[in-house]
Amino acid sequence: MKQPKILLVGASGQLGTALLEELRLFSTVAGTYHHVEKQGLIHLDIQNQDQINRVISEVRPTIIINTAAMTPVDKCEELPELAKSINVQGHFSLAAAAQKIGAKLVFISTYYVFDGTKGYYTEADFPHPLNTYAKTKLAGEQITMQAPGSLLVRTSKIYSLGYDQRNFLARLITQFKGKEQIKITNDQYTNPISTEDAATAIARLIATESSGIYHLGGPDNLSNYEFALAVAKEFGFDTQLLKPLSTEQFGAAALRPKRCALEIHKLIKRINFQPRSIENNLSKWKPQI
Ligand SMILES: NC(=O)c1ccc[n+]([C@@H]2O[C@H](COP(=O)([O-])OP(=O)(O)OC[C@H]3O[C@@H](n4cnc5c(N)ncnc54)[C@H](OP(=O)(O)O)[C@@H]3O)[C@@H](O)[C@H]2O)c1
Repeated sequence: MKQPKILLVGASGQLGTALLEELRLFSTVAGTYHHVEKQGLIHLDIQNQDQINRVISEVRPTIIINTAAMTPVDKCEELPELAKSINVQGHFSLAAAAQKIGAKLVFISTYYVFDGTKGYYTEADFPHPLNTYAKTKLAGEQITMQAPGSLLVRTSKIYSLGYDQRNFLARLITQFKGKEQIKITNDQYTNPISTEDAATAIARLIATESSGIYHLGGPDNLSNYEFALAVAKEFGFDTQLLKPLSTEQFGAAALRPKRCALEIHKLIKRINFQPRSIENNLSKWKPQI
């Protein structure tokens, strides 16, 4: 493959930061930020068509990867018009710009597009989103699949150590260290994947010129409460701080799916990659806590 020229939209985010590093190993990459300015990144609000046109005419990418999204799920429920503006209209504008210059479109979506009644969803399963965030992401998927040769990666929950408080592992550690009581659901299951592994897998899908839908997730299927217990056990935090609740007791603004692990056989076969277990990652990170 000729060295691709990639525009990575959302390079300041949790996944985008890790993906930028991986993509640089085999391509020229320009990354963008929105509010969180980072050195070397270009400012872009995907709600602004003029800004999109300007960035694209400067970068002239052969691949456009959209990792940008309004991700706080309850905020999307409270501000649905803003969620649609960023997650649907913003992505539509990027897709239209990609089509104009013949660039490949890559979109990152979520396990939340499923309703959580089945678990271990495959790429052939039918989405049925329960909340506004997931509905906007599904609309983004539909836009993506209309673009010839596009790649759609649905990932389960991603976790990493060194990111900001939008990452649930970082929030958990702050709460444990602050000795706060931590209310956490015990009936929402998925197979989380580390941000690093997610970035490696997505970069390999791109490097192998993959297209279509791929699911991405880790080897452990567990609830948020079980994840927090594993964190407490590995890092020596007080498990008594955890207050497990059902989804109904928790009462968040947005509904969440309950059994939403993603089946990843198609991905493993395509790129020969096995994501690491939670235990493996946490023990690797322990010296940094
Ligand atoms: N986190 C998860 O567990 C998870 C699970 C499944 C799927 N996903 C999907 O994976 C992707 C990355 O998630 P993440 O956790 O890395 O999200 P994140 O940390 O919240 O980052 C979101 C990124 O989007 C950018 N952004 C937000 N609004 C924008 C706008 N109007 N114009 C341009 N950029 C904008 C942000 O820029 P600034 O930070 O500079 O404002 C940031 O770079 C998202 O598409 C998300 O739906 C995430």
